[in-house]
Amino acid sequence: MITIDLEQGLVTVEENGNRLQHPIGSAEAFEVVSKAWLRSGWDNKHVYSFTWFGRPIIQLPEDMVRLQEVIYAVQPDVIIETGIAHGGSLVFYASLCKAMERGRVVGIDIEIRSPNRQALEAHPLFPLITLIEGSSIDPEVVSRVQAQIGPGETGLVLLDSCHTKQHVLSELNAYAPLVSPGSYIVAMDGIMEDMVGAPRTEPDWKWNNPRQAALEFVAVNPGFVIEEPPFLFNEGNITERVTYWPSAFIKRIG
Ligand SMILES: C[S@@+](CC[C@H](N)C(=O)[O-])C[C@H]1O[C@@H](n2cnc3c(N)ncnc32)[C@H](O)[C@@H]1O
Repeated sequence: MITIDLEQGLVTVEENGNRLQHPIGSAEAFEVVSKAWLRSGWDNKHVYSFTWFGRPIIQLPEDMVRLQEVIYAVQPDVIIETGIAHGGSLVFYASLCKAMERGRVVGIDIEIRSPNRQALEAHPLFPLITLIEGSSIDPEVVSRVQAQIGPGETGLVLLDSCHTKQHVLSELNAYAPLVSPGSYIVAMDGIMEDMVGAPRTEPDWKWNNPRQAALEFVAVNPGFVIEEPPFLFNEGNITERVTYWPSAFIKRIG
């Protein structure tokens, strides 16, 4: 049980007979409150309430800001995302490419619904976006994506399609070769593991999720490590991301 006493400035956690009390201004209290906030946000579908340049984007804003930091640091030539939905995330990456005057975006989805396709094709940033329809792990789709990356170009990959462990593992095996050393492949939505018991979840999410796929992938691929992108600016106490993407950033080191 978590108790937040704003008058006393204390956060109390009672679990398995243990009682821990943290000053509200501590990193520990922030972590406890953030976990509760993430859970309440999940139940309320908070991430289903944002747009980017007119298109719905199903992401937590902090994840978008952190990803912007990574994209600006890596300066990729091609940003690839599996899982388009309404296209807001593709437009987000394209807007960064436009501002950086570098890079373009490739999006893959098993079904690009016609209102989403039409809205994307009419979007002012569409010249920077290529859409590919098909399953992200279909070898023909993977080779169409490969063909989008020229020799020596830097790739950065985001996996946000089907979130089963097996599917994400297959995507990691298919797309990790497109990631350049120093760049990342991101296995999004590992939060599923922590949401078991909440609405719209399944009991097997405890193990059947992108985070477990990421852990298994790096265990057998020594050229890749799970590495938190560093905070590029931090004058506060907080050193951990508040995120839907725990253990998600897989960096190519070899
Ligand atoms: C969570 S949504 C993507 C959200 C989007 N990236 C955003 O940030 O707004 C997941 C998408 O993955 C797609 N999808 C599911 N299975 C897939 C597969 N096997 N291959 C490609 N896309 C798939 C779904 O059609 C859906 O549009």
